Amino acid sequence: MFERDLHRPRYHFLPEANWLNDPNGLIQWQGQYHLFYQYNPHGAFHGTIHWGHAASADLVHWQHLPIALAPSPNGPDAAGVWSGCAVNNHGVPTLLYTGVQPQTQCLAWSDDDLLTWHKQPQPVLQAPLADLNIVGGQRGWEWRDPWGWLEDDTWYMLLGSGIRNVGGTVLLYESKDLFHWTYLHPILIGDRNDLGDVWECPNLFRLGDRYVLLISVIPEFRHTYYLIGDYAQQKFHPATRGKTDHGAYFYAAQTMRDETGRRLMWGWIKEGRDAQAQRAAGWSGVMSLPRVLDLLPDGTLSMVVAPELTALRDKHAHWTDLTFSPDAPDVLDNVQGRCLEINAEFELIDAEKFGLWICCSPDGEERTLIAYDVAQQCLSIDRQQSSLSPAADKAVDIAPLPIGLGERLTLRIFIDQSIVEVFASRQICLTSRIYPTRADSSGVRLAALGGRATLKSLDLWTMKAIKI
Ligand code: FRU
Repeated sequence: MFERDLHRPRYHFLPEANWLNDPNGLIQWQGQYHLFYQYNPHGAFHGTIHWGHAASADLVHWQHLPIALAPSPNGPDAAGVWSGCAVNNHGVPTLLYTGVQPQTQCLAWSDDDLLTWHKQPQPVLQAPLADLNIVGGQRGWEWRDPWGWLEDDTWYMLLGSGIRNVGGTVLLYESKDLFHWTYLHPILIGDRNDLGDVWECPNLFRLGDRYVLLISVIPEFRHTYYLIGDYAQQKFHPATRGKTDHGAYFYAAQTMRDETGRRLMWGWIKEGRDAQAQRAAGWSGVMSLPRVLDLLPDGTLSMVVAPELTALRDKHAHWTDLTFSPDAPDVLDNVQGRCLEINAEFELIDAEKFGLWICCSPDGEERTLIAYDVAQQCLSIDRQQSSLSPAADKAVDIAPLPIGLGERLTLRIFIDQSIVEVFASRQICLTSRIYPTRADSSGVRLAALGGRATLKSLDLWTMKAIKI
């Protein structure tokens, strides 16, 4: 159906068709990774939200499984089964999620290894306390996306919300059985002028000797932020913070701890083309590659694509020690591909800007520039010429990235048709969307502007498609 689609990713997870948004219910069960996701089976737009389901033994290849949760007519989730998490209730896989409308917290469990789900008919949490002064509008309060965990013999649950005229917040609840919940207090309240009015999709987890809180911020609706700090007396005390991704397309990230003890994170990669183009394509939204999270000694978050993804590397090419300038002949001339992994290490000489052109047509009519700007100390993806289509976003994505004299720039770039995920020096991720219209927009070239740079090494692989 999509064989001739130049934009549909080949090695990122996405449903067979239609709409996808947030990752949900991430859990490893009997060795298998389970990925649920916000899904609309009726088209490539947000509506009638279900939970799609897929499983993987290796984090790379995914098997589609039947829809896990569908709205129940007359049920608390009649207008949508919104985001939530999976927990292991003493051997019983259990989902906590938000039903709409209004937003209430619901529960479902499985007795056949996560294939079919039984819903608790009534919400396990009906409403926020009235005196909390929760942000709300025509569709009721903003109070959703349960994140649960077990501590000793008590269950805890976080909900994303916002306090009117104050800021986004994460509320804490406790329970002995997952079915009866008591409200405790906010673990953190933000300043609306700083981090927005409502926080969605909270995640709280331990990493090394610190705690990390993830929040996705409304009305921005563009970034998942990480806050690193301490969790003490059931309150979160942030010390530092950052963006899980500096692009405008990686959102609603969720994490899980796998059986090897790794903290893995996926995010929803949004589309960068208009709603009409999404409907016409027949699909919208892609799951990011899984990232392994760690804490760096300086207290920042390290994000590295799960090493399992190297299984997709196919044909390999390698270059070393090349100094290049704006007028030098291009050594990467023969390189083609729209599904690639590129690992490159550059040394600054006197270029003002340097990096790589990707997805270039032979005449340069379509091309995308991934470059480092030495004066501005930032990495960018310039999409102004990425696509001839008026439906495609054409902005420049920018991530601050200070590089000292004598230091090198290391880039790991994953290109998958319309997706570009760039990892620079572990802490900086920049995910973007490009929609080249020409089939021959597949070249890769070195880019130097206003001087020279040295390519210390470049490894490039074509990437195999995952068959799902
Ligand atoms: C985040 C989000 C969640 C909500 C879901 C609905 O993208 O808005 O807060 O549960 O999407 O699909």
